[in-house]
Amino acid sequence: MQWITRLLSPVKPADFSVLQTDLHSHLLPGIDDGVPTLDEALELIEALAQMGYQRLITTPHVSGERYPNTSATIREKESAVREAVRKAGIPVEFRAAAEYMLDENFGRLLRENDLLPLDEQGHILVEMSFLHPPLALHKYLFELQSKGYKPVLAHPERYPFYHLKLEEYQALKQAGCLFQINILSITGHYGPDVQQSALLLLKQGMADFLGTDAHRMRHALTLQAALRSGHLEKPLTRHLFHNSAMS
Ligand SMILES: [Fe+2]
Repeated sequence: MQWITRLLSPVKPADFSVLQTDLHSHLLPGIDDGVPTLDEALELIEALAQMGYQRLITTPHVSGERYPNTSATIREKESAVREAVRKAGIPVEFRAAAEYMLDENFGRLLRENDLLPLDEQGHILVEMSFLHPPLALHKYLFELQSKGYKPVLAHPERYPFYHLKLEEYQALKQAGCLFQINILSITGHYGPDVQQSALLLLKQGMADFLGTDAHRMRHALTLQAALRSGHLEKPLTRHLFHNSAMS
């Protein structure tokens, strides 16, 4: 019913409150290339809350080589940051999942059922190398779904080997992959090629979720500027995203 209400009365967004939930960010200090300290985490979390988010599901990188994070290390950091958020009085629900690199380590975690989904519906945020897709991509997508998970590919618009290749995106969709577009891609933050691919996916109705992928305050400042400029008004009002269903 929510989408019908939105179609009937499109609200001009001043912020991201229409999305309610951000499902992609790097806000656990010191465990990936996101915020390095708790103070910087709190500053960025506060900025995201001020932009209208009511729930932040932060997603530290998990990869076999660069970021060998485990569910246990993520849960430990999550508790510490959540407590700090509470003490600071920032009005936002905070929890952690992960952004899984589709590598051999991921294959092992999947076999061992040691994954942190984004929500109770079993959405799992995955990413791949920017150089080439993994050889076992479709095997991972199939196995995830056969275990009841719903794969969500982080920023499909950022992979150069997929740029503007609609048939490649369609093949991923047919394999059951949902798409999370970075809001920063729409703003042109990663360059014109990424921006065009993001706009193509939006136009084709293939974008399921929007995420900030915020690593640092400079990302929040870019998002604030984009909101002020009005450039995000059309994407936020004309497209249906499923962020708010992520509870
Ligand atoms: Fe990310």
